[in-house]
Amino acid sequence: MFTIRLFHRLWLFILWLNMDPSLQQNAITCKLDLSPLQGTSYEPAFRNVFLPGETVTVTCGERFWISDPRKISVVTTCEENGAWSVRPVCQEVRCSNRREPNVYWWNVYWGQQISLGETVNYRCKEGYRSTDGTNQATCTRNGWSPDPLCQELVGCGTPPPLTDGDIKTTTKSQYRHNERVEYMCQNYYTMEGEPYRTCINGEWTGHVRCIEPCIVSEDDNRQHNITLKSSDNKYFAHDEIIEFRCIRGVPVGAVAMRQRCNSGVILLPSCH
Ligand SMILES: *[C@@H]1O[C@H](CO)[C@@H](O)[C@H](O)[C@H]1NC(C)=O
Repeated sequence: MFTIRLFHRLWLFILWLNMDPSLQQNAITCKLDLSPLQGTSYEPAFRNVFLPGETVTVTCGERFWISDPRKISVVTTCEENGAWSVRPVCQEVRCSNRREPNVYWWNVYWGQQISLGETVNYRCKEGYRSTDGTNQATCTRNGWSPDPLCQELVGCGTPPPLTDGDIKTTTKSQYRHNERVEYMCQNYYTMEGEPYRTCINGEWTGHVRCIEPCIVSEDDNRQHNITLKSSDNKYFAHDEIIEFRCIRGVPVGAVAMRQRCNSGVILLPSCH
């Protein structure tokens, strides 16, 4: 009789345990907020209470991240203490609104919040230039792009020599970005292009060339029965006009008595 009453009491106690809401609240569970940010989804879906050891996959919307700015999905576990191993809340992708040290100016106001895909115009400090040349920064999951926003402009070594010419000043082994050197050509040579080369971010730019003069020899003239019309100059610059006259007979052949020096080459007329 006694044992039956004991069992009866035990049964009632178990019934009471199952029904008592305070005890149910004390059972350790992890909870999910089922009205999350737009785009967030849970697997398993439509459950918001989980027991220790159970897992949930949280997948964020396109513009959000979880656990790490590069991740959009994570598996989180309900732990023995009722906490999630990874907080099951997606965060919006944001980029820092702090100006990088090599950025001189950027179009961001104090406290501005910048989200994924937004662009910002910027300018680099003196001696730096925007890494991709656009001066426009884009907010990505990995932070600002390009990374870094500004790149240091590099100097150059000794400038290249010039064929048939020279550099006006003594050369150094190191030049700063934007520094330039001036060239000159040997006597009678003609310079083509500006006489400068400029160091631009590690490379010497600029087109300089020295063009050969024409040399008129007395022997060649005599063979063609000609002489120079008005001077006894031996050297003629590129593009200069040279006039001949006959020392014997009259002009013959297709070559005219007026010729132009072309990169060291001159055609000689003949007389007979
Ligand atoms: C130059 O004149 C001489 C004598 O008249 C002639 O023999 C010779 O062929 C001439 N030279 C040329 C290149 O025409």
